[in-house]
Amino acid sequence: MKTRTPNPIRGARIAGTGSAVPERILTNFDLEKMVDTSDEWIVERTGIKERRIAAEGTVTSDLAKEAALKALDDAGMTADELDLIIVATVTPDTIFPSCACVVQGEIGAKNAAAFDISAGCTGFVYALSVARDLVASGRYDNILVIGAEILSRIVDWQDRNTCVLFGDGAGAAVIRPCAYGEGIIECVLRSDGSRGDVLVLPAGGSGMPASCETVKSKLHYIQMKGNLVYRFAVRVMVEGAMEVLEKANLRKEDIDYVIPHQANQRLIDLAAERLGTQDKIYSNIARLGNTSAASIPIALDEAARSGQVKDGDIVLLVGFGAGLTWGSAILKWSK
Ligand code: ACO
Repeated sequence: MKTRTPNPIRGARIAGTGSAVPERILTNFDLEKMVDTSDEWIVERTGIKERRIAAEGTVTSDLAKEAALKALDDAGMTADELDLIIVATVTPDTIFPSCACVVQGEIGAKNAAAFDISAGCTGFVYALSVARDLVASGRYDNILVIGAEILSRIVDWQDRNTCVLFGDGAGAAVIRPCAYGEGIIECVLRSDGSRGDVLVLPAGGSGMPASCETVKSKLHYIQMKGNLVYRFAVRVMVEGAMEVLEKANLRKEDIDYVIPHQANQRLIDLAAERLGTQDKIYSNIARLGNTSAASIPIALDEAARSGQVKDGDIVLLVGFGAGLTWGSAILKWSK
């Protein structure tokens, strides 16, 4: 399928990044006391050693706001300069109003429109792509894109198949205009809704409204066929990467850094091996686990702030998640 940016008049770049994670650390050894698992199993199968868990009373918009303010500061901007806020999340504070509207109100972005995007762990790449096209078309100048999740609230802490994988956090980026061909060079977004059942939160929507029965049956928690997601993920990480490279007219050898969705170290390594980019991967999964839509922007912020991603670097973002969805982006880094 062919997609193109309609009549771009300029490019769009990431002008600032920020991230936020809760203070509380939950280690694999803590999990050993909660479910039938072991540090050895979790590290060997996933690479995760610990994850961050939000304190009671903290909501997704709190983490989103903290990341947003850091990104604005990094970009040298104030909230009232924003035209639009997009939050990618599957764990908004409430089904409505949107998390983006809560953030808009909290940071005082009085000139900004706001909406959420639901694309699972691919959410940040989806939001980034939308923001890029809106800036490139000339419609908006300053867009705040956030990936934020408190997955610990939708995880069944008695299900060892899922509870060892996830963590909480938020990452943000400010998107602003730049010269055409610079900044966010290309994006690819894909979906396969026919396979959505492999990763689902069944209850709480119009299909299965909340009831005593849905709560008793644990239908408000993540249900995942891990093996099927794993195989799908390795395939689409490679396909998504190759497709966006082709669209950007670049080769694998041109990539300086890969920032993949942080779902599973084994999965990341296998995809990197197939792409030949093993020595170019940024990974923080050992410390943070899978933070869904927040994982790529947190990793990007860490890589940029630590100086690992430098001006002029070609950076590949690639993610996959619930939907099923997948997506990739090629950036020429400059701030
Ligand atoms: N501790 C110990 N044993 C476990 C655990 C655990 N935490 N979890 C599962 N097991 C057991 C299983 O019960 C199974 O036992 P059995 O053979 O007796 O039935 C055995 O380990 C093997 O299970 P598998 O599922 O085959 O293990 P696998 O190697 O595939 O690893 C995992 C499972 C880690 C979930 C992997 O499949 C995976 O990472 N999949 C991708 C998940 C993912 O990326 N999700 C992202 C989407 S998130 C989003 O969009 C919100």
